[in-house]
Formats: sequence, C-alpha cells, structure tokens
Amino acid sequence: MRKVIGLLQGWQYCDNFSEAFLQNDFDGYAWQEVTLPHANKEIPYNYFDERDYQFVSTYRRELDIDPSDQGKRLFLDFEGVMAAAEVYLNQVLVGSHRGGYTPFSCEITHAVNFGGENQLVVVVDSTERPDIPPFGHVMDYLCYGGIYREVNFRAVDPIFIENVFAKPKNVLTEARELEVDVYINNPLNNAVTGELQAVLSRGGKVVAQAFRSVELTTRGIIVETMRLTDLAEVELWDLDTPNLYQLIVSLRTNLPTEDSYTDRIGFREAVVRPDGFFLNGRRVKIRGLNRHQAWPYVGYAMPKRAQRDDADILKYQLHLNTVRTSHYPQSRHFLDRCDEIGLLVIEEIPGWQHIGDAEWKKLACSHVREMIQRDWNHPSVILWGVRINESRDDHDFYTETNRIARELDPTRQTCGVRFHGHSEFLEDVYTMNDFAHSGGDLVLRDQRVVTGLDHYVPYIVTEYNGHMYPTKRFDHEERLMEHALRHMRVLSAAGLDPHIAGTVGWCAFDYNTHYQFGSGDRICYHGVMDMFRIPKFAADAYRSQVDPETEVVLSPVTLWARGERSIGGVFPLVVFTNCDCVEIKVDGQSVGKFFPDRLQFPGVKYPPVVIRHAPGILGEWGSQWYDGEIIGYVNGKAAAVKKFIKNPVASKLEIKADHQLLDADGSDVTRVVFRIVDQVGNVVPYINDFISIEVDGPGEVVGPKQVVLIGGCIAAWIKTKTKPGTIKVWAVSSRFVSEEIEIISQ
Ligand code: GAL
Repeated sequence: MRKVIGLLQGWQYCDNFSEAFLQNDFDGYAWQEVTLPHANKEIPYNYFDERDYQFVSTYRRELDIDPSDQGKRLFLDFEGVMAAAEVYLNQVLVGSHRGGYTPFSCEITHAVNFGGENQLVVVVDSTERPDIPPFGHVMDYLCYGGIYREVNFRAVDPIFIENVFAKPKNVLTEARELEVDVYINNPLNNAVTGELQAVLSRGGKVVAQAFRSVELTTRGIIVETMRLTDLAEVELWDLDTPNLYQLIVSLRTNLPTEDSYTDRIGFREAVVRPDGFFLNGRRVKIRGLNRHQAWPYVGYAMPKRAQRDDADILKYQLHLNTVRTSHYPQSRHFLDRCDEIGLLVIEEIPGWQHIGDAEWKKLACSHVREMIQRDWNHPSVILWGVRINESRDDHDFYTETNRIARELDPTRQTCGVRFHGHSEFLEDVYTMNDFAHSGGDLVLRDQRVVTGLDHYVPYIVTEYNGHMYPTKRFDHEERLMEHALRHMRVLSAAGLDPHIAGTVGWCAFDYNTHYQFGSGDRICYHGVMDMFRIPKFAADAYRSQVDPETEVVLSPVTLWARGERSIGGVFPLVVFTNCDCVEIKVDGQSVGKFFPDRLQFPGVKYPPVVIRHAPGILGEWGSQWYDGEIIGYVNGKAAAVKKFIKNPVASKLEIKADHQLLDADGSDVTRVVFRIVDQVGNVVPYINDFISIEVDGPGEVVGPKQVVLIGGCIAAWIKTKTKPGTIKVWAVSSRFVSEEIEIISQ
C-alpha cells in the first residue's frame, strides 16, 4: 500500500551553492535549520532590490528510509520550487524541473541506501532564467525563490496509480455518471492481471462503486477507464452548496501489488456561452477578483492555512463567486478551499506578456499539462487559461496549448487572456483585460468592438482598473472613493450586458513587483485590500453585493472630518450598502433618509447610496462640527449603525488574531491585526506610530517585529514552532499597550 510522509521539517538551507555539495561535502558554509514552505530570502516590505532573492541556493536533508520499504518504488514529490531544481540523492541526480508553479516527482528507488544514510540535496535556481516561463522580459509581479511549497516522500508498490481523472457526465440529468480514467504506472514488460475498484462516497457512506479487471501488457503509463452509474442521488456542487464526494480507486494485481488513490470531486456543469455563464444550467454573473499568491516579507512561502484564508476572504468577506489565479497555477490548498466553499476558479499557465523561443514554448506546453493533470478533479476550476497572459497572438503556439488542454480534459473550456482587440480566437472563451474605464462614461466595451467579430462569443472580462487608478489604503479620501466607484461602475456595466459573462477585477491584494511597475517602492497598489489583506473602501463595493440575510453591509466612504476633502465636508457621501435605505443623523438629529442610486448603478443588485449634499447640516468652513451616525434599514428596521465622532482621539491599540488554534508543525501561521482606534472604534488613519510586536512561547513573528502602522493599522503573521504550547502576543506603541492574546499551538 502507498505510504506518504510530509517532509516539512528537518531541512538545512544554504544561500549558496558549491559543487562540493554534490559530493556531500558541506563544510565551510553556513547552514540554517529551516521548515517548508521556505523563502530563500526574506525581503523588506518595500523599497528592496528584487535581485536580492535571485540566486542559486541549496537545501539538504537526511532521509530516514524504512528498511521495510525495500521492494517498493520510492518518490519525492515537490509541489513548487522556484524557479528550477536539481535533486540529488546520495550524489545521484534523481530528477530536475524547470518552472516554479507546477509540481514534479523524482523517483529515488535506484539511489536509496537501505540501512544506511541517505543525503538529499536540492539545488534551487531562483534567478529569472530566460529559458523558463514566465521569464525573458519584464513582468509586473515577483517570483520569489526557494522550496516554497511542500515536499512529500511516497512509497508505493511497483505497479501503482499515478493519477486519476474523474469526469462527471450528464450531471444535470438523472442519468448522470462518473467516468474515471485511471493512470496506471507499470514498470514491467511481462503481462500482469489485476482488478480495479472505484468507490464514490460521502461522509463515509458509499454512493456507488465499480470494478474492472485489467490486463497490463505494456510498460509505462496505461490508462484504464471505469464508469460509475446510478448516481441519481448525487447532489450537485454549487456556489452555496459545494457538495463534495470522495473517490477512492484501488488496484490489486496478481504479483501481488496493491495501491489506492484518493481524491475529492464534485458534480457540476460549468459552461460559458455567448449569452453568459451557466452553472448547473443556471445563469450566474461571474463576479471576481484576480489574486497573486504573495505576502509581505516571505513572498510565496506561506503554508496551508494562509492559502485557505485567502479563499475565505474572497468568498466570505468580499462575497465574490470567482477568482482568477493570475498568472499561474496556485497552491493546492487554495484550490482545495475553493472546492470546499464554492468559489469558482479561472486557472492559467505561468506567463506575462512575453513569449520566448521554441524551447520556451515547449516548456510552457509542459506547464499546461502539469497544471491540468494536477487540478482536473477540482470542481471549482471552470476554465483552463492556455495563453501567456496578455501576450501577442501566436497561431501555432496557441493552437498547440489549446490542443493539449482539450485532449487532456474534454470537460472544460479553454480561455486565453489578452489585452489587445481583434485577437485570433483559438480558445472556447474570449477572455479580455478591458481597461477602458478611466473615470469617464466609457466603462466596458461591447464585446464585438473588442473581438472584431460580427457575432457574440463566450466572453469574460478578466481584468479592469488596476494600473488605471492605483490607490493606497492610506490615500486621500476622495481618491479612495473614486477607486471604489470605478469598481462599482464596472460591476454595474457588466450587469447590464448579457454578452459579458462576468468580470474579474484587478485585483484582490496589493503585491510586490519589479521596479518597472508599481509606485517605485516595489508595490503595486492595485488591490481592493492591501498586502496584509486589510480592506480599502473598494472592498466594500464588492462586499455590499450580498443578500442582507447573509450579512448587512453598511460602509460609508468617509473619515468624517471637516477638512479631509477638497473644499471641506463629507459630500458627496457614498455609502456601500445592501440596506433598503440609510438615514443620517448629525449631532443626534435626523437629516433624512436616502436611497440606493439605481439611476447611476442600474446593473447591480445593491447600488450604493450617494448623498450629494445634505442642506444646511454640516455648515461651511469655520462653523461647528458634529458627531455623525449612519443607520441602515432593511424591511423598515434599523439593521446596522455606523458612528463617527467629531473629535477623534487615539484611544486604544487593538489586537485581533484570525485563528486561536494552530498546528505545532513549525510552519502554521495566523494573521494578527493591529489597529489604533478612536473613542468609537474607528481606525485613526493618520497616526504614524510604531508598534513592537511581542511574542512569548513557541511562536515567532514572520518578518520584522518592529513596524510602523500603515494608515492606522497593520498585520503580522505569527508562525508556530514544532514545540506545542501557548503563544502569547501583544503589541506596544509609543502611546499604548494592547491587550495580550493567546494562541494555542498543538
Ligand atoms: C495587466 C496585467 C496584470 C497587472 C495589471 C495592472 O495588464 O495582466 O498583471 O499588471 O495589468 O493593471
């Protein structure tokens, strides 16, 4: 039977490489104990040199091989190493890989020393090698280095299941069934017979099963197809009901060998048509944001929990239904969570504008294969992006990437993201970055203007805003408002156009980037949240599009100050809300009720309330200033209140952890948010205090312990050690000491 052991701990890291390492001679260099996921270099928050992490480094580890594994086939499975890796066991090169976003496996059976020491050495090239996509030209994001995802050791019998592709068929009818392609790895030439079993279950209850006798007559990968029928009872995977099923495929042969392969699947039909996107036959407007899988200081090297938290933010905090994994396959933990919570995914191959030479294209094609074969069982993944993001047309190259995708996975449509119009349409869905909106009347173009075709095709807008209006969380209130309104205008325009299946905005989170992009400080401030996942007002444009039964949203775009805006005052006051109406009170007196602006935003379900002015209440420059209160009403009842104080004074340093329970595995993290607030709990955005983050117990701060607040707040990730215990965290500023919180690491 198969055995899988995670190799998170026990690594030694050297930020250098010497040929001597390949002879297991490690002397004369500094080696550091590290845990995966690992960033080859921690970088500052901003104003760093992105070449700092672009070097060749080495990881090594002793492997404990159980003598009982003799006779098995042994593998090391790498989930993501940036950007190229060479893997040596006991001085034997056992594998290599180019490309930092897709997994690879190395068979080590022939190199293992049973009963003796086994030294693993991984040479990691994190330079931007022009032979590896996405590299070769400039690009607007960083590809941080290191073994930044997990590594597993796997022991299997000689004949084993390499992969399983479960294809739900006819899911919208009672005759639905599951076709299961089983990829069997057979190292032998002589004929072997065996039996396959596939069991579909949910919550431990078997839903269906199938058996099949197999005769393996050739060496290599043999694909056997099984069919599970009588699935009328199966419940569909959908946005609000992401029903998942477990599929276990087992193989027994007469040798004897046995193996079993487990995955999670969902039954759903997802198709983009010229008249919109249909999920399980129901029209759904795609509403999403692009995500970079990056964090401050450690870049990509964040563990499972942080990956999952991002999916939760998009689904539960921003109430989106879609994410685009710009511009590469993202962590499996992120995709797993998208499956669990019902968040649709547009996934694409690594690349950014540049297409390299023939070898480069060949490698990009292998990334298409690696992405699809890793992720084809995720019900959340609805489209394969098979073009290099925003690259020029390339008939032969993209004919080939489409061919590979369709051949490997006939169940999903392909797409390819471009930003130039009239591009050759080789995919199933035309995906366009439409940056037409720059504040004026033009918001989104008619798809026929973009495609140059005289008929409608399946069409999604995969980016908008972004560099058209970069906005920092600590920018001026008027800019923050316009930033948010631009997002809302696009949502509204898309809502009115049935030939736009939906929109995916640029982008969810601010991100570090190269000097050719961003604000000069190596940050692109394009997110509706900052790099710490702290929201800007634009986040509320999305957040407000949820049924008030799920969450009542009431977010006025104001700091409530007399002199923040040009000419003074708080009008026009935009309130992102799903309430029926809002009432403003000034100094305790009602000024009136105001209603959603359906004229300006007819295409969204919950338009913002825009109060252009409120006569006479807040006076002119030089008059009195008052407390404010905004009340949101749903079905005639006050459902939410937001209070502002006329004379804010910094009153408290708040501390809040996202999670109280962590795993003591040396890599688990929780975010902790620090905010200085006024008397009524609103952040005071212009306080420029520092904080010192204090930790007691088996945990540590990821990145610096002393930071300055950015716009009145900041977050840090607290990481566990391998020792269990209680981690106490608190913060000290020049004026306050926060309360102390406890995180249990177990
Ligand atoms: C797009 C690109 C994104 C990002 C964005 C900024 O052209 O695909 O990666 O750079 O512009 O608006």
